[in-house]
Amino acid sequence: MNTPRRILVTSALPYANGPIHLGHLVEYIQTDVWARFQRMRGHQCFYVCADDAHGTPIMLKAREHGIAPEDQIQRVWAEHTADFARFGIGFDHYHTTHSPENRHFAELIYTRLRDAGHIARRSIRQAYDPSQKMFLPDRFIKGECPRCGAADQYGDSCEVCGATYAPTDLKNPVSVLSGATPEERDSEHYFFRLADFEPMLRRWIDDGALQGAVRHKLAEWFDAGLSDWDISRDAPYFGFEIPDAPGKYFYVWLDAPIGYMASFQALCEQREDLVFEDFWAPGTDTELYHFIGKDIAYFHTLFWPAMLHGAGFRMPTAVFAHGFLTVNGQKMSKSRGTFIRAETFARHLTPEYLRYYFAAKLGPEVEDIDLNLEDFAARVNADLVGKLANIASRCAGFITKRFDGKLGAVLIGGADPQRSGDHVDSLTFDLMQAADEIAACYEQREYARAMRRIMALADAVNAYVDQKKPWELAKNPADAAQLHIVTSIALNAFRLLILYLKPVLPAMAEAAEHFLNIPPLTWNDAASLLPTGHAIGVYQHLARRIEPDALARLVADSTEAASRTTAPEEVPAIAPIAPTIGIEDFSRIDLRIARIASAEHVEGADKLLRLQLDLGGERRQVFAGIKAAYRPEELVGRLTIMVANLASRQMKFGLSEGMVLAAGDGKGIFLLSPDQGAEPGMRVK
Ligand code: MSP
Ligand code: ZN
Repeated sequence: MNTPRRILVTSALPYANGPIHLGHLVEYIQTDVWARFQRMRGHQCFYVCADDAHGTPIMLKAREHGIAPEDQIQRVWAEHTADFARFGIGFDHYHTTHSPENRHFAELIYTRLRDAGHIARRSIRQAYDPSQKMFLPDRFIKGECPRCGAADQYGDSCEVCGATYAPTDLKNPVSVLSGATPEERDSEHYFFRLADFEPMLRRWIDDGALQGAVRHKLAEWFDAGLSDWDISRDAPYFGFEIPDAPGKYFYVWLDAPIGYMASFQALCEQREDLVFEDFWAPGTDTELYHFIGKDIAYFHTLFWPAMLHGAGFRMPTAVFAHGFLTVNGQKMSKSRGTFIRAETFARHLTPEYLRYYFAAKLGPEVEDIDLNLEDFAARVNADLVGKLANIASRCAGFITKRFDGKLGAVLIGGADPQRSGDHVDSLTFDLMQAADEIAACYEQREYARAMRRIMALADAVNAYVDQKKPWELAKNPADAAQLHIVTSIALNAFRLLILYLKPVLPAMAEAAEHFLNIPPLTWNDAASLLPTGHAIGVYQHLARRIEPDALARLVADSTEAASRTTAPEEVPAIAPIAPTIGIEDFSRIDLRIARIASAEHVEGADKLLRLQLDLGGERRQVFAGIKAAYRPEELVGRLTIMVANLASRQMKFGLSEGMVLAAGDGKGIFLLSPDQGAEPGMRVK
């Protein structure tokens, strides 16, 4: 690898007046995958973000809750950071725009722009709510459309005829806040003279900082002429007061992108090795990328680079815009239950599955992406459970049981995988070869292509296992050597697949690293294989199927009415705790660690699986009602807990000699597993 790059990436700052939803997550997942990929490549990559805490809506939201705006934004900050953690979004720092760092940089940038002559002042006429004693943003005035007369239209545009206009053009306008008729009042505002920067912005665009679609849009904006940007708001406003302008505040969009700097500055304060100027001074060789949604391109491709340049800072290396998320082909909707909060999703489904699904849909262009919930379940079940985890679950048990947990040789032709020509090595060879191509896909934000390529490789590995049939080889002692080779090749292949998916599936990769007993995978590890004799850990299943029920529950929980009844302060309903027993009652139950030696479907039973359990010598047959939640193949080799002294019961299908423990109350079935290190036969107390 060449010298490591030094990269700073950001995602847009979410507003501090609402929860993180799946639409937001498109962006944070896209950025996080990219940042994780860069780190795996050995580059220094910092990922910072913050809450966007200022503005009228947040001020009003706090009033509505009867709390100070500072308390409101603090509350939301805690919720947002918890949501991001659930989805594995690995920020290096998550700040807020209502911070001393941000005030410092907002004032600095403003005064530098002012002193260089880029700020103008003039009086404008604006709607004013006399009862609330405040100027009204366009969205807080409603009235009749001046063109078509439609009632109840916002102050900036008509949803019926599409006309755009100034709020002062509305007929019979009312304040959304009070219902009062707005007055018109004059007030002095501060403007940023964007047109001063047109030549320099054109040069920046020619340097390739933008995607085609965004460049196209910019050409239209240039043609329309760049007008001055109003960067001030009158009190009352929640934000920073403009220096030397009492009662005037910076408009939220002025200090919002400055939040990228503030967050990075706060990171520098925590880390000795980081120097702010290395990433923000002009002429530096570090890289700066902003990931954003297409709706905020104007701010990030015109105002923000112009502000940076005008105030003597570096410009972004590139801005990457993505499209919008639809759910089941439509705009997210509270009444349809498709306005899904991050937190609700995480309560019903594994968050990493969403990372995989979005990755499988995301390309480098500004295209909208759709989350079709049925397709989501089918894809996760087919790819992550059926293809990926299946490789390990089908092969790990043989290594553990037959070869003392140690891998065999993979390279028949010697240490150089390129030199050997037989079928076995060509599979491994293809997998190793794919590293550069997959890396290029990640680098270019071609995640969908990367996922297709990786899953095609997973198909090849499964075809190999199907063809070699380790379960057949296992029956004949003479085939032991071959069994060892086949399963070792498959597990090495699994390791490479996990490596390639690690930017998308960090938690699953971590579990796989634990199982494979290896240090954290980096991209360079694709050039080597696990050595002969490497001891792996015990396989614990890595991916669980999504049941159709889970989707239905997610949607039900996301509909408007439901989301009101499951407000965070309410406690979820759980079955009442059973009457108290003494320790002597409990100790009569002999709970043991058991290894599932085999699992199979039971002819004629629609809920049961037949399990053979190994208790470290003793064998038991148990019929378990877990068919809805598990496929037999994924159970084999796994450890669980059984009631070993339960009276046997003669069932229609055979004798059941005990019971395995699982959690479940109608929301699914979850088999218990002991921690790493437990062994069959151990007593559970
Ligand atoms: N606060 C501003 C950004 C300031 S950046 C200096 C903002 N906040 S937001 O909460 O509305 O959106 C945050 C990001 O999420 C934006 O990039 C926005 O495009 C993105 N998304 C919000 N809803 C989305 C979808 N439904 N689909 C995809 N991305 C979406 O804008
Ligand atoms: Zn109209």
